Amino acid sequence: MKHFHKHLLLGALLLMLSSHWVNAQEPKLGEEPISKVISAMTLQQKAELVIGTGMHFEIPDSIKAKLPGGGENSPFFQAPDTTLGKAYNQMLDELQKIVPGAAGHTAMFPEFNISTMVLTDGPAGLRIQPKRKGTDQTYYCTAFPIATLLASTWDKDLVTKVGEAMGNEVLEYGSDVLLAPGMNIQRNPLCGRNFEYYSEDPFVTGQMAASMVKGIQSEGVGTSIKHFVANNQETNRLSVNTIVSERALREIYLEGFRIAVEEANPWTVMSSYNKVNGTYTSESGDLLTKILRDDWGFKGYVMTDWTGGSDVIAQMEAGNDLIQPGNPKQIHEIIDAVKSGKLDEKVLDRNIARILKVLMMTPDFKGFHHTDKPDLKAHAAITRKAATDGMILLKNNNSALPFAGNVKNVAAFGNTSYEMITGGTGSGDVNEAYTISLTDGLKNDGYITDASLKGTYESYIKDERAHQPKPKNILAAMMGVKMPVAEMNVTPELAKDMAAKTDVALITIGRNSGEGSDRSAGPGDFELTNTEKTMIKNVTDAYHAAGKKAIVILNIGGVIETASWRDIPDAILLAWQPGQESGNSIADVLSGKANPSGKLAVTFPMKYADVPSSDNFPGHAIKSDKPADNKADGSGFSFMRRVPWEVTYHDGIYVGYRYYDAFNVKPAYEFGYGLSYTTFEYSNLKLSSDKFDGQLTVTVDVKNTGKVAGQEAVQLYLSAPKGTIAKPVKELKDFGKTRSLKPGESQTLTFKLSPRSLASFHTDSSEWIADAGTYKVEIGASSRNIRLDDTFSLDKTLMVKKVTKALAPAAPVKEIKPN
Ligand code: BGC
Repeated sequence: MKHFHKHLLLGALLLMLSSHWVNAQEPKLGEEPISKVISAMTLQQKAELVIGTGMHFEIPDSIKAKLPGGGENSPFFQAPDTTLGKAYNQMLDELQKIVPGAAGHTAMFPEFNISTMVLTDGPAGLRIQPKRKGTDQTYYCTAFPIATLLASTWDKDLVTKVGEAMGNEVLEYGSDVLLAPGMNIQRNPLCGRNFEYYSEDPFVTGQMAASMVKGIQSEGVGTSIKHFVANNQETNRLSVNTIVSERALREIYLEGFRIAVEEANPWTVMSSYNKVNGTYTSESGDLLTKILRDDWGFKGYVMTDWTGGSDVIAQMEAGNDLIQPGNPKQIHEIIDAVKSGKLDEKVLDRNIARILKVLMMTPDFKGFHHTDKPDLKAHAAITRKAATDGMILLKNNNSALPFAGNVKNVAAFGNTSYEMITGGTGSGDVNEAYTISLTDGLKNDGYITDASLKGTYESYIKDERAHQPKPKNILAAMMGVKMPVAEMNVTPELAKDMAAKTDVALITIGRNSGEGSDRSAGPGDFELTNTEKTMIKNVTDAYHAAGKKAIVILNIGGVIETASWRDIPDAILLAWQPGQESGNSIADVLSGKANPSGKLAVTFPMKYADVPSSDNFPGHAIKSDKPADNKADGSGFSFMRRVPWEVTYHDGIYVGYRYYDAFNVKPAYEFGYGLSYTTFEYSNLKLSSDKFDGQLTVTVDVKNTGKVAGQEAVQLYLSAPKGTIAKPVKELKDFGKTRSLKPGESQTLTFKLSPRSLASFHTDSSEWIADAGTYKVEIGASSRNIRLDDTFSLDKTLMVKKVTKALAPAAPVKEIKPN
């Protein structure tokens, strides 16, 4: 099939739809000012433009029937509507053909030269349908490493490069806006979508998101930073009311978004499903107008998350310009509201202007013809390399890694050695052409993996899968995701047999999760099962008895418990979910072809109970006035039903390392931690001044003092003086990464501090204030491995920025306080 060009489509539609065709005199977008185009539109056309054109994809009837609300009645899968006329419905049919598998579209109006905007997921690559009816051509996309891995690279340029490759696929497959990056804070390790997010720290989050947005948008397509804001769990995400202090919002949950908006100008923002302090984010003028536009200067448009919020009129007024996926009922609501005077038409015009401004930047509008043939080979090379840079060596006793020269034969234990998990499930999944398994990756790097063990695992997985229940997560079930099966028992005999035949053991532990549900704190998810722990023990014992080594590989999308078993194996490689080249990327690290240079952008606690939000995640049910609501069970199943639910962020600003540091809780692996095959020495810390005068530059020399080439991620933490409000012990304020340094080679890294780096948010005055006093700069290899420090002073307290008072909770939030 020839590729579709949206403007050709527009022309065809123009001819086809006589009702829309009539007026060739209408002002054309691109030729006339936007305001003139808008003033020529009818009220119905305006309403159609701010409401998306619905969600259309084929799902099996068996699954449809099980959806809450029941198949056709569910808000996702509306039956065709006739009230808007034939032309509208014909348009819907045509839109589906442009990029099958797109998540949403805006309506098009040929008579005004208004084409559609195609919106597609998601953070780890473009998610579209890989096959289309009537053609053998395929439309696979690259599955890049998950966001959590990318953040672990601490390499902004690399993330931009990944973004360029991703953006190029968006462009060449004919989409306009990638619904990415995801950038919520990893408040709690059990959030099922953490893999789509970067970090527990807002600075890392903001920097990574900005780098990603710059990369994607450099291809001439748009992004949608999401989910704005405080969407830190999946449980009852459609209805949860997040109660959180203004300070925690500003310093932790909003800060990353602010950085991304101010530094990278994303074309769009996606509001989240949840409420914040009683109001749906998509209905909050405080959030979408006061904070996003007035305080930060955002210029694009805001869209809802898919079916997010409950009142389109409130959404329009708040500055949520576009409703997705949209349904005809909402169009009528808008029309009626304008007619009755409930909604000022000017609000509609304002929102449309924002949408059209972005539309005019799209490739299609500018006349670009996409090829449907992005360079997938080149992008595979980028993902293979990026993945190695974000893998984290957690442990490496006696140089167990990289493999010694005499290692040739490898035994691969663990199901995911044979079925690598490239990324998480749900809208953040990607339809890639292939996945390289660990054993194939090893083979490609010249190793021989034990064939009998491979056979044993493959037949075990096949048998288990035959009676594996469907995933509980409804989205994963709908998308036919194969969740990992339970591990097989590895007996001491099997381990001994393998230790005799092979040179080294790999033991892979796999975890998967995704949109629609949170993870569990128990065995099989956050914790290892007994079978998994026994596997690690039996294999390691057998290999040690034979004078050989055993290495654990974590193929996971989020934090797990490690403290109870980490002493056993010789080495632990945290590979995350590394994208479609998984096996090759891991093999490159095991062989030493690549030196892992990732460091944790999220803390690994000793146990789940240590997590500051563990006793208020994911919140609790609340009483509703509607009796039907209260029938909802509190199990947390939340995909479609709006269970009255609330969560209070008692942890305040003490999220991640801010908590472990201030409350003296020892983590298993701290924020910023990661080993290398080489060693680095830090020296020559220099501050541009010992007094802060609007800006400060910090430089430090980093030297490779080991035997192999490598890169080092270096972190700058700042401790603020005591002021009138409590402050974290230290906070990350900048970071950098060396290029690959040869043994003996050095590089000077430069860091910058701005007034904002010194400031904390004062709720009473809605001001960011830097207190006068002495500030300590700490240069760390991790948050608990500070190599150099120095101080500077600020003579006078500085009011850095006054913002609008917004999003205040109804009553002060009870927050934990360090002694
Ligand atoms: C997800 C978004 C996604 C959208 C479109 C929603 O369910 O929360 O992240 O972009 O669907 O697929």
